[in-house]
Amino acid sequence: MDPDQFDLVVVANRLPVDASLDDDGTVTWRRSPGGLVAALEPALSAGGAWVGWPGAVDLDLGPFEVEGIALVPVPLSETELAEYYEGFSNATIWPLYHDVITPPGYHREWAEAYRTVNRRFAHAAARAAAPGATVWVHDYQLQLVPRMLRSLRPDVKIGYFLHIPFPGVDLFAQLPWRREILEGVLGADLIGFQRAGDASNFRRAVRRLAGLATHGTAIQVTPVAGPPRTVRAEPFPISIDFAGLDAAAQRPEIQRRAADIREELGNPRIVFFGADRLDYTKGIRHRLKAFGELIESGELQVPGSILVQVASPTRDNVVAYQELRDEVETTVGRINGDSGTLTQVAVQYLHQSQPFEEMVALYLAADVLLVTALRDGMNLVAKEYVAACWDHGGVLVLSEFAGAADELAQALIVNPHDIDALKSAMLRAASMPAAERRRRMRALRRRVKDRDVNYWASSFLSALKETK
Ligand code: F6P
Repeated sequence: MDPDQFDLVVVANRLPVDASLDDDGTVTWRRSPGGLVAALEPALSAGGAWVGWPGAVDLDLGPFEVEGIALVPVPLSETELAEYYEGFSNATIWPLYHDVITPPGYHREWAEAYRTVNRRFAHAAARAAAPGATVWVHDYQLQLVPRMLRSLRPDVKIGYFLHIPFPGVDLFAQLPWRREILEGVLGADLIGFQRAGDASNFRRAVRRLAGLATHGTAIQVTPVAGPPRTVRAEPFPISIDFAGLDAAAQRPEIQRRAADIREELGNPRIVFFGADRLDYTKGIRHRLKAFGELIESGELQVPGSILVQVASPTRDNVVAYQELRDEVETTVGRINGDSGTLTQVAVQYLHQSQPFEEMVALYLAADVLLVTALRDGMNLVAKEYVAACWDHGGVLVLSEFAGAADELAQALIVNPHDIDALKSAMLRAASMPAAERRRRMRALRRRVKDRDVNYWASSFLSALKETK
């Protein structure tokens, strides 16, 4: 067998590694933390490879290996980063698929860059796949890859998983390249979505906009050339490494750090916690509004209550993200100015990503996790919090618009647009009796433990194997 070809090829926008610059100027690659790479590790180290962008522009690297995983880098130029990644992926598809919370931009040159880069990924995957291999393509940045790859390599099995929501057909219909995108994705044998609703939105779009017939979850595709094919579009809700989180949360040094965090925060009675990429889909403004009003009305007091908000920097060249940052930071400043004391803030805001251990300690230190997304494919922070709450002490407030709400019914489910309902849920969470907290958290943990990321990856790959 060709040593540069693999039986399993994962294709995703980013390689699962981060580069760090050592003192002597050498670059060291380390595996980035993340459930997806952990779940696929056994399959990848037994004859698999990952195709993706290494995370910096104009970096033309050959294939390399990190911690036993073969990596095939796909280069991007500065213009491609602006047009394919920041433009078409994150200023066209991302807002359109998240219910146009911010208006999508439709620009032909972005679409052209998306095509060019998707073709490059498809060629890299075609070269890396052994005869009859399985290729698993991920997410909204690479929707054209399945079809391009099928025409290059009709012998391989192709799976595609969309990590973000798929919108209703009336919104999707806005996209000038809607048919090309649908046909791109339909190059796969199995298409996975987070929620049953996303899969049915996709099948409806395929019927309405591509004129294809569907039967249950099956779509009949009749290509111009080649035999008719059946493609399945089904939900496979993604998850996390439950065992890893649970074990970390039980480590004494992480528990000590959690106690120190509460101490450093001034030993408040109640710690609300939010942890998100600083993205307009996450409902951070709604959360701040609700918290600010509760402080203003005296229903929560400072000192005594605090909201810790970790907002990881993300996509900061995209205008909508810059505007959001300004708004969030103005609001935090206003709440703290109005309600803080000399020694105590109302909102402790960190515009920084936190290392894994610190995140686990923050989960343990929190009394209530607030997930107030306006639209979210899944929201893995909600599942991580549940996995960290081994002592059954915490309460999860969860938006009905996050995919996780389909599975985590014992959370306090809220509509984040309804600020009064959000405020009531926050107060209810803050004063929930211990027995109720335990009962809810036990049920949530059972669900996340049974349906962890290994379950997700293996159920997708075995369903893909069974496709004809
Ligand atoms: O939620 C979709 C997603 O692709 C995640 O899988 C990922 O964590 C995030 O967006 C990353 O965004 P970016 O690569 O733009 O930093």
